[in-house]
Amino acid sequence: MTAFAVGGLVVSATLSAFTYLWARTYLVDQRQTSAVHQADANAQLMRTLLEPHSPDVARLLNSLQTPSTAQSVVWHAGRWYGTSALAGPDALPAELRNAVISKDRPARQRYQRSGAQVLAVGIPLSTTDSYFEIFSLSNLDSTLGALGESLIAASVLGFLVSLAIGAWATRRVLRPVREIGAAAAAISGGRLDARLDAGGDQELAELATGFNSMVDTLQRRIERDARFASDVSHELRSPLTTLHSAVTVMQRRRHQLDAKAARALDLLGDEVNRFDHLVEDLLEISRYDAGVVHVDLEPVDVVALTKGLLAEADQKVEVSATGADATIVIDRRRLAQALRNVIRNAIIHAGGLTAAAVNVGEQWTEISLEDHGPGISDDERDAIFERFARGRAAGRRSSGSGVGLGLALVAEHLRLQGGSIRVNAVNPSGSRFVLVIPTRRPLS
Ligand SMILES: Nc1ncnc2c1ncn2[C@@H]1O[C@H](COP(=O)(O)OP(=O)(O)OP(=O)(O)O)[C@@H](O)[C@H]1O
Ligand SMILES: [Mg+2]
Repeated sequence: MTAFAVGGLVVSATLSAFTYLWARTYLVDQRQTSAVHQADANAQLMRTLLEPHSPDVARLLNSLQTPSTAQSVVWHAGRWYGTSALAGPDALPAELRNAVISKDRPARQRYQRSGAQVLAVGIPLSTTDSYFEIFSLSNLDSTLGALGESLIAASVLGFLVSLAIGAWATRRVLRPVREIGAAAAAISGGRLDARLDAGGDQELAELATGFNSMVDTLQRRIERDARFASDVSHELRSPLTTLHSAVTVMQRRRHQLDAKAARALDLLGDEVNRFDHLVEDLLEISRYDAGVVHVDLEPVDVVALTKGLLAEADQKVEVSATGADATIVIDRRRLAQALRNVIRNAIIHAGGLTAAAVNVGEQWTEISLEDHGPGISDDERDAIFERFARGRAAGRRSSGSGVGLGLALVAEHLRLQGGSIRVNAVNPSGSRFVLVIPTRRPLS
């Protein structure tokens, strides 16, 4: 835009300057030519009228045809005569006087006289007589001044017009870029159905079509992957149920088994449980990917819910509750699963919870769960919320350790309801997971 404006200014200023110079040369030339013609004609007349001892030269001068802007001066027989008191030898530059009177040559000169441009033309009439005519150029000056002003105005206008054209062109050129940016942002924000309008500009149609087909491919692949994960999880469910019942049957006969077989059965039981969790988590996550999640909102007493889940997990910690009313509108199943995952983590990774707090604020409700375990290092603080991120547990694959989906699910569950999760360090060691959800009050 700036380039356009500066370019426009340079072009129009240059054109204006040239126009001005050309016009000035032309006008001055023309004026000079007509002045010389007029002076010639008058000199001719004077030559015939002036006799060696003319009695009344001043009257003769006044009878000449001169416009009001011109004045005549005559050098006759050693004396000066002028059309007015102001027109005398002083009105003529000495140079011009000398050239005409002494050297007997016609001459002209442009000069300043009492602040205005004038042109004087001198013509020798005889050895003793010379005729001078002084032309005022001040109306030429004012013409040129007006021309200059309008050219400056034209330059400014040119600048403004090119600024406007620049703004328009920039917006037009950048619009598709902006549209692509918006579409890309929408897609990365999860709106996979965002597309560009390919019906607009001819040149851009190709770009839009290419972009759209890329997104189509991407969308198909994402959907296929999501379906694959959910299909696999579904397929695993029925054999898992069978395994579960088989293990339960065998566990009832555990006392009949010898020590080795009993240990093997325990291991099998643990692994089947772990597998069960994995499949449940995978199903849940693939539902997010396929975009088929429903929120079931209902009024929930978050303090009571937290207490209940802690008791269920055998965690004997007090729940400190702040805020007036603990009942907020939320998806109970998802909040419960999120809390369960964090509690389970504390048990598995940190040896159990040491403190719990619920704070129901005006806008946000925060549930903090604290442990004195090894804590989360700074560089893992964000990564643990990603799928299959297992932090320091990675590499170990003992029974009891998970697959790394727990916190990813917690994050999805909370995000779906406009909330989030964060983790802080606890002194001297340990972590505090804070689940944040918007405080929505039931309509009563
Ligand atoms: N309370 C905690 N103290 C220390 N580390 C933790 C704690 N909670 C989670 N982590 C770390 O974060 C990682 C990711 O946790 P996440 O719940 O996502 O996976 P997981 O517990 O390993 O497996 P899953 O929950 O899927 O069974 C864990 O592997 C562990 O290293
Ligand atoms: Mg976990």
